[in-house]
Amino acid sequence: MKSTIQDKAKLVNSVFSEVYNKYDLMNDIISLGIHRVWKDKFIDWMNPSQNSSLIDVASGTGDIAKQFSLRNKNLPKITCVEPNDDMFNKGKSNLISFKNIKWVKSSAEALPAEDNTYDFYSISYGIRNVSDINKTLKEAYRVLKPGGRFMCLEFSKIDNELLNFLYKNYSKAIPAVGKYIVGSSKPYEYLINSIDSFYNQEQLLELIIKNGFTNVEYRNLSNGISAIHSGWKI
Ligand SMILES: C[S@@+](CC[C@H](N)C(=O)[O-])C[C@H]1O[C@@H](n2cnc3c(N)ncnc32)[C@H](O)[C@@H]1O
Repeated sequence: MKSTIQDKAKLVNSVFSEVYNKYDLMNDIISLGIHRVWKDKFIDWMNPSQNSSLIDVASGTGDIAKQFSLRNKNLPKITCVEPNDDMFNKGKSNLISFKNIKWVKSSAEALPAEDNTYDFYSISYGIRNVSDINKTLKEAYRVLKPGGRFMCLEFSKIDNELLNFLYKNYSKAIPAVGKYIVGSSKPYEYLINSIDSFYNQEQLLELIIKNGFTNVEYRNLSNGISAIHSGWKI
């Protein structure tokens, strides 16, 4: 079990070290820019205010922290958590002008934060990559204030047969695009496999509930290509 967890962490780390430089470009290409709309909808549902604090975990290049901040005149206090050196450096330098955003190098399974600290916890396209999802959810619960909200954006399962068929066929072409843009198809083979083997909407909802959250619900985006899960710490 321990070695499986370490193997996954190692694999995921090597994937992101391979793609970090072209990460944003590849997201725009393979999602045809739609990831930006999904991320906007994610922040819409969070509906943060100027005095909301956020811990954004698996921050990558910092899209969520940036939008959360911009919507509120850069007043919210935000902590970005990212374990991969290359993604961390890229994200931190992207958001260097945001004085309200600090960066911490750490994994989702062991957050360097006090209990009951944040109003919001966000994880966008990160939960599929963690090595221990239960530990991750327990940590999310721990660092949120009572009344705080957990928000997760992730690829999910499509609820329409025709779209599913088209999407599966489209996905097969993504590693070749990766090879052309990034120079390697492997990270994008990992991407497709990790999406395939990840939980569906209901299974993820159950896990979130099992780890202490209440009023857990989800919304599908583009017929479930992605989904947003929301839960509360009461
Ligand atoms: C697909 S990117 C998502 C980046 C960003 N949140 C976004 O929505 O564009 C996934 C990120 O999760 C990070 N990651 C991988 N394993 C992690 C873990 N155990 N804890 C926290 N972050 C992790 C990766 O290094 C990578 O930067």
